[in-house]
Amino acid sequence: MAAKYAGDFRKLYGKKIFADPAAAFAAIDEVLEIYQENPPEFAPFSSKYDAVLLGRARLTEQEQRGLAAFNDPTRGNCARCHTSRLSARGALPLFTDFGFVALAVPRNKAIPANADPSYFDLGLCGPERRDLAKRKQYCGLFKTPSLRNVALRPVFFHNGVITNLRDAVAFYAERDVKPSGWYPTGADGTVRQYDDLPAEYRANVNREPPFDRGPGDAPALTEQEITDITAFLKTLTDGFSKTPSPVAVTGGEDHLVSTRRGLQ
Ligand code: HEC
Repeated sequence: MAAKYAGDFRKLYGKKIFADPAAAFAAIDEVLEIYQENPPEFAPFSSKYDAVLLGRARLTEQEQRGLAAFNDPTRGNCARCHTSRLSARGALPLFTDFGFVALAVPRNKAIPANADPSYFDLGLCGPERRDLAKRKQYCGLFKTPSLRNVALRPVFFHNGVITNLRDAVAFYAERDVKPSGWYPTGADGTVRQYDDLPAEYRANVNREPPFDRGPGDAPALTEQEITDITAFLKTLTDGFSKTPSPVAVTGGEDHLVSTRRGLQ
């Protein structure tokens, strides 16, 4: 109600809308949905990389090297989950395959609920979500987010434990080869790897490249490749092109499905 758009909201839904929380949330749900169905505002696809895919711009050499490492199944393997190519129908990529994966990012002590050592956010299997609570194979799995506009985010991963984009990329290279750099060391000197996931669920942790190695092995990405991928990720920020990409190009994804048209 303190937000500067509260007045507009009252105009649309009536002066007393905030007095009824259920009605207010339903209204918020509705305006959010309509905003998300408006591609020029919500998903303009006006990044440099979109312009490159449409043949209207070129990546720098460093960005190009980053893209190659991002796509290479034996190096970053990032495109395995964060799709980066035009679809068969010519749709611009969304940088997610909408799959669920356990990356086992470190525990974030700044989250108040984590003060309780027995509390774990297990993603798909709860505790927030309840329908899959008994499916142990889903514990620790989170949805792969889009990497569009990722360089604008102040925190990364589901618990926001990483606060720098290059570190988010470096985590992929170092999680298993240099775990002491990411997880706390216990009083007995052992590294508490995957410290935000109880031991019984650690078999769920993803082991595909770049996670296909162990302590002391060479990382899947060199320091230079980590820097190059970070540079490439910055080409995914909207606003490079003044005119958004034609909606027809994104239409093939069928991701903007209209279910309600309340305000039109
Ligand atoms: C096996 C699938 C998979 C692969 C391969 C993969 N990612 Fe991810 N990525 C995910 C998932 C799942 C998350 C969210 C995990 C979480 O929050 O716990 C994620 C999150 C991220 C985030 C944080 C985004 C945000 O908004 O918080 C970045 C950055 C990222 N990935 C970059 C990369 C890069 C770079 C590579 C290649 C080096 C890569 N990913 C490879 C599945 C994958």
